[in-house]
Amino acid sequence: MIDKIKELIAEAEAFTAQTKEEVEAFRIQYLGKKGLLNQYFAEFKNVANEQKKEFGQAVNTLKKAAEDKVNTLKEELESKEEVKGVYGDLSRPGEPVNLGARHPISIVKNQIIDIFSNIGFNVSEGPEIEDDWHNFTALNLPEYHPARDMQDTFFIQTNPDVLLRTHTSSVQVRYMEKNQPPIRTISPGRVYRNEAISARSHCFFHQIEGLYIDKEVSFADLKQTLQYFTTQLFGKSKIRLRPSYFPFTEPSAEIDVYWGLETESDYRITKGTGWLEIGGCGMVDPNVLENCKIDSKEYSGFAFGVGIDRIAMLLHQINDIRLLSENDVRFLEQFKSAL
Ligand code: DAH
Repeated sequence: MIDKIKELIAEAEAFTAQTKEEVEAFRIQYLGKKGLLNQYFAEFKNVANEQKKEFGQAVNTLKKAAEDKVNTLKEELESKEEVKGVYGDLSRPGEPVNLGARHPISIVKNQIIDIFSNIGFNVSEGPEIEDDWHNFTALNLPEYHPARDMQDTFFIQTNPDVLLRTHTSSVQVRYMEKNQPPIRTISPGRVYRNEAISARSHCFFHQIEGLYIDKEVSFADLKQTLQYFTTQLFGKSKIRLRPSYFPFTEPSAEIDVYWGLETESDYRITKGTGWLEIGGCGMVDPNVLENCKIDSKEYSGFAFGVGIDRIAMLLHQINDIRLLSENDVRFLEQFKSAL
């Protein structure tokens, strides 16, 4: 009988299994209630006294061999399962990758940049925290100039020289200080004004500034450039330059686009006039050129500034400017298919 047990020990040690079910069958065969071990334990009382010791040891060895085998096989199979879990079923279709969407402000900004780079403008940027010189003084707005009140400025704490720029015209100054004509640049960016927040206005918004300086630049060049711009962006080529006043341009004008009066929304957008104001423009005031060390006898140029937020709202039927800064995913997701 002892020889039979030794055979079983060898068999148990050599046993291998591919599935949990095979391991379980093995366990029942050896260690189950009616399994081999219990049978041998029951046999114990019938074993002759002088053989009891050897028999007992052999049965215990068999028990240990069977238990060890069950444990190691279980562990092996479980760790294999884990590996399978990491890679999953390789024949399954892939998980969809959730693509983000560009912000409508970026979409429109990039469109405008494209339109102007096609006619040779580069892109320049300046800081949002500005000093008085670049935001006001160099732009022909000296201290106590009444036109400073046109823009409700956020000052940085107690220092009146440090402020949040109220327009991207400050970048004009920075660009001209560093570059000599010919200059063709557009400067997109965020600007700040201390205004009550409503569906139509916010205390921060976005502008694109344009600047063109060269010899013999005329008002006709300005008009032609703006007409090209509105045609490209809105598909509308009829514009009107309405006389206005900005300290940094002379003469100055508001840019109106003829939107038409075909639909109800045209009436609403243009307040029944058919015309829509999109920004300001003019011939750069010689004082501004001189402030930036550009010879105003040799060079002239034009500048313009348009609001990005209003254009984005128009092009994408957004009825509340606050949506542009609330980061509501339900709003942002709607721009997934845009450029
Ligand atoms: N900076 C002006 C504003 O924020 C817009 C503007 C008007 C910019 C005329 C210009 C310009 O460059 O020539 O209201």
